[in-house]
Amino acid sequence: MGKPTYTFTTPIYYVNASPHLGTAYTTTAADTVARYQRMNGCDVGFVTGMDEHGQKVADTAAAHGMDPQAWCDSMEPAFRDAWDLLNITYTDFVRTTEDRQARSVQKFWGDLYDKGYLYKGAYEGWYCVHEETYYAESDLEKNEDGVFVCPDCKRPVQKAGGEENWFFKLSEFEDKLLEYYDTHPDFIRPEIRKNEVVSFVKSGLKDLSISRSTFDWGVPLPFDEGHVAYVWADALLAYITGIGYADPERPGEFEARWPMQYHFVGKDIIRFHCVIWPAMLMAAGLPLPHTIFGHGFLLTKGEKMSKSKGNGVMPADLVKIFGVDAYRYYFMTDVRFGYDGDISMERMVQVYNADLANTWGNLASRVPGMNSKYFDGVVPEVPESAKGIVEANPLKEIADGLYEEYDACMARVDFTGAAQAVQKLAHRANLYIDETEPFRMAKDPAKRDELAAVLYNLLEAIRVIALYMAPFMPNTSAEVFKRLGLGDITEIEDIKAASAWGQLPAGNPVEKGEPLFPRLDIAETTL
Ligand code: MSP
Repeated sequence: MGKPTYTFTTPIYYVNASPHLGTAYTTTAADTVARYQRMNGCDVGFVTGMDEHGQKVADTAAAHGMDPQAWCDSMEPAFRDAWDLLNITYTDFVRTTEDRQARSVQKFWGDLYDKGYLYKGAYEGWYCVHEETYYAESDLEKNEDGVFVCPDCKRPVQKAGGEENWFFKLSEFEDKLLEYYDTHPDFIRPEIRKNEVVSFVKSGLKDLSISRSTFDWGVPLPFDEGHVAYVWADALLAYITGIGYADPERPGEFEARWPMQYHFVGKDIIRFHCVIWPAMLMAAGLPLPHTIFGHGFLLTKGEKMSKSKGNGVMPADLVKIFGVDAYRYYFMTDVRFGYDGDISMERMVQVYNADLANTWGNLASRVPGMNSKYFDGVVPEVPESAKGIVEANPLKEIADGLYEEYDACMARVDFTGAAQAVQKLAHRANLYIDETEPFRMAKDPAKRDELAAVLYNLLEAIRVIALYMAPFMPNTSAEVFKRLGLGDITEIEDIKAASAWGQLPAGNPVEKGEPLFPRLDIAETTL
C-alpha cells in the first residue's frame, strides 16, 4: 500500500515586493508541517508560488518601467532564494503566468460557464488595487479629505463601473455555505475566524465579478476572449494546478491529493478562502479542502508588519544574526499560530538564549563533553547490573508519551505546544544531570556501571529531542544525528518507531563539536 498523502498550500504571493517576515511566516509554518508529516510516514504535497496577474503587479511593473512578464520573471529569484535560505521543502512552485495555470483557469471557469453559473452584467462599484478587492460604496470609509478609501488598507479606491463583466452566482451559495460550516466544524480554524466568516455570509452575499475587460494582464476566459480572469479567480486555482489539476503530464495526482488537508493563509484573506473558494468548488462539483487555517499577524510595536509601512524586515537580516534554525524556531513557537503576536529583537534574543542556548544547545554539548571524558567518546555499553536504570528513568517516561502529545499538537498546527512538549524533555534532561551528578559518579569506581546508564539515558534523550526538533530546526537535528554517529535524519519515515526508547547503539562514536547555539548578547534592537 502507498503512503497516505498529506497536502497543503501557502498563499501564492503577489510579486510586487520581495518576501518579508510576514510573508515568510506562512511558508515557514507550512514547511514545519511538511517536514513533520514526512517523518510521520506521509507523502507530502506542499504548494506555494507567485501571484503574478492583476492590476497591482501590472502597476508595479509599470512603475519600474518594465513589461509585467519581465517584472515577474525578475522577481522569481527573490522568492526562490528566500525559501532556499529558510530551508523550505515545497513540492511545487506555481507561477500564475505558466501555461499549466492558464489551462486550469480556462478549464475551471469553462466548466462553470457550461454549468450556467456565470452571466454577463455591468459592475457598478469600487475597487481597491492594493487589496485587489471590489467594494460596494456602503463598505467604504472616507479619509480626512473626504475621499473614499478602502476599509481594509485605507488607501483611496478607484471607481469601477460601466464595464461589462462576467459574474459568478456567488449569492446562490449562501445557505449551502452556512450549512457546510455548521456540519464541518474543522473547516475554518481557529474558531474566531469562523465566527467572522459566518457573520459575513449571513449579512448576504452578492454575485462576484470574475473578469476584467479594461485590462489585459491575466488569463483570457475561454468563452469570451476579450475578458481576463479577475486576479483572485485565477490565483485560487493555483492550489489545484500545483497538484496536477487538468495536467495530462501528472495523471492521477489530483485525484490522490484532493481534497487536501490545509490551506494556510493569513487572516486578511480568509473571505476569499472561506467564502469564494468553497462556493467555486461547490459549483464545480468538487469536494472542499479539510481546513482553511487563518493565522494571525506578526506585529512590530503593535502594528502589522508590512512592506508598505516600511517595517517589513527581510528574513535574511535575521538569519545573519540568529541562523536559520533559530529563526524558524522563534517564529514558529513564540507567536501562537492562529493569533496575532508582537515580535521584537529583544524577544528573539531572549527565546534564543533561554530555549536554544541554555536548554537544548547546552544539553547537546554538555553530554557529549562528559561522554568524551568518561567513555572515550563512544556510546557506553550498559552492563546488566545497570540495565534497570535505562529501562525506567524520568527521561524515558517523558519520551514514551512524547509522540502522542507532539503528534496531536502538530495535527492541529499548534507549533508552540509541540515545541514545548519536546522542551520538557530537554529541561528534564538538564535537571537529570544536576540530580545524578555524573562528575561525582566518575570519581567513584563503584559507580561505573551506573554512570554508563546515566550517560546512555542522556545521549538517548538527545537523540529523541533531535528527532522531534527536526521539523523546526532541520540543520541542527541533522548535525546532532551526525554527532551521535547516526544516519541521515531526513530519511526517517516513522518518527514514532524511531523515537522508541533505547535504540541508540552502544559503541557509536560521539563527537563533541562546536556549540549549536552560542549565547548571544545583543544590545541594539533593530526590529
Ligand atoms: N496573492 C494573494 C494570495 C492569493 S492565494 C490564492 C496575497 N498575496 S500577498 O503577497 O499579499 O501575501 C500575503 C500573505 O502574507 C497573506 O497570507 C498575509 O496574511 C501574509 N502576511 C503579510 N503580512 C503579514 C504579517 N505582518 N504577519 C503575518 N502574515 C502576513 O494576499
